[in-house]
Amino acid sequence: MVPGMPFPPDFLWGAATSAYQIEGAVDEDGRGESIWDRFSRTPGATEDGATGDVACDHYHRVREDVALMAGIGLRAYRFSIAWPRVYPEGNGALNQRGLDFYSRLVDELLEHDITPMATLYHWDLPQALEDRVGGWGSRETAERFADYAATVFGALGDRVPIWATLNEPWVAAFIGYYTGRHAPGQQDLAKAVRASHHLLVAHARAVEVYRSLALPGRIGVVLDLQTASPDGDSDEDRRAARLGDGYTNRWFLDPLFRGHYPADVLDLFRGHGAELDVVEPGDLAAINAPIDFLGMNFYMRRLFSPSTEGLGWNERLARDDDETTEMGWAIDPSALAEQLARLRAEYPPIPLYITENGMAQADTVSADGAVHDPRRIDYLRAHLAVLEAAIAAGTDLRGYMTWSWMDNFEWGFGFRPRFGLVHVDFATQKRTPKDSARWYAEVIRANGPAGL
Ligand code: FCB
Repeated sequence: MVPGMPFPPDFLWGAATSAYQIEGAVDEDGRGESIWDRFSRTPGATEDGATGDVACDHYHRVREDVALMAGIGLRAYRFSIAWPRVYPEGNGALNQRGLDFYSRLVDELLEHDITPMATLYHWDLPQALEDRVGGWGSRETAERFADYAATVFGALGDRVPIWATLNEPWVAAFIGYYTGRHAPGQQDLAKAVRASHHLLVAHARAVEVYRSLALPGRIGVVLDLQTASPDGDSDEDRRAARLGDGYTNRWFLDPLFRGHYPADVLDLFRGHGAELDVVEPGDLAAINAPIDFLGMNFYMRRLFSPSTEGLGWNERLARDDDETTEMGWAIDPSALAEQLARLRAEYPPIPLYITENGMAQADTVSADGAVHDPRRIDYLRAHLAVLEAAIAAGTDLRGYMTWSWMDNFEWGFGFRPRFGLVHVDFATQKRTPKDSARWYAEVIRANGPAGL
């Protein structure tokens, strides 16, 4: 840290998206079906039956989109690669045209001096793997992921310096296979628990492949770390919060950074008939192998109280008097501070990126042609202030990717929540940088929000 300069000089300021949320072109150039294509077509699965068929049409507008990023001065862009574009059937025949799209994107970014940060899996599993082997319920999917990773590293590894294996394995496993609110929409706790292990095995295999290729970049994983707090002041509330933290945070942090699953959460799952019975010798050592960074997505504080239903708790995401976003999530930067403090206190030091953080609201284009979003600016300013303090307290923070670069398909919520720095008119595909994008441009230029 340079005195008076809270963010390191080479701090990576950027923004994030994911493939299914922005690309569209789901039937083009040989792309295969993903579990989100299938799920979003299921009646009732998404708001207004929204799908990612067109989304931001980024597949066709990639040059224009990257030029706009350069105009704002992004130093980094976090995107994901759609596995079914590369292997339409999950494995077997490679679809070169799909891979070429990402190669063009990476070249375009590099030409504009924007560091590419690629995520291999942001939830769009090839449907063929779900159909053939049961998706993440099967270890086979982890092995196929390693093959896919090897192909992508081979094609892009010379030019992409930062790789994430998985985005938010908790969501992929538990929202996909337990609550069923995400693809593939199943409600089977035992399968979700197995899926979570297979996702971690997939991560470990991809890291092994990456290391074996001796590429020049760095590799890590992205977790959604949400602060778990007791809703009230009772011991029961505290116990529920502790378990809630175990379920969402420690279930992934512990195997990755301590080499074992948390005993209390193993017991919790076992008590609900879900035994973690798919761990093979060597798995935990492989999952615990060193990675180069942790990516942290941060959005919320979850408030826990006991319940006789579900896994044993009730949860809410805001108190009655909290200011909330369009998602109903409280705006509470202190929750970010607490999560960073716990990482410092409880886990070995590791370089960290905030790989997602941002807020949704119903932004509209004003009569003056601009999109005025002062609340988003306040939100970002408050969260960046927390990061400054965390760096001063010893967090090895290397970059910040706000979610999102542009408004996009917000999964089950469709196109209503707008998270972007750039407004997208989904009828015309017109992009309009919001006031927050211009503010962020100044932050990047000044290497921090001081005085802005
Ligand atoms: C995260 C996801 C991202 C986006 C944001 C709002 O959980 O990784 O795709 O949906 O939430």
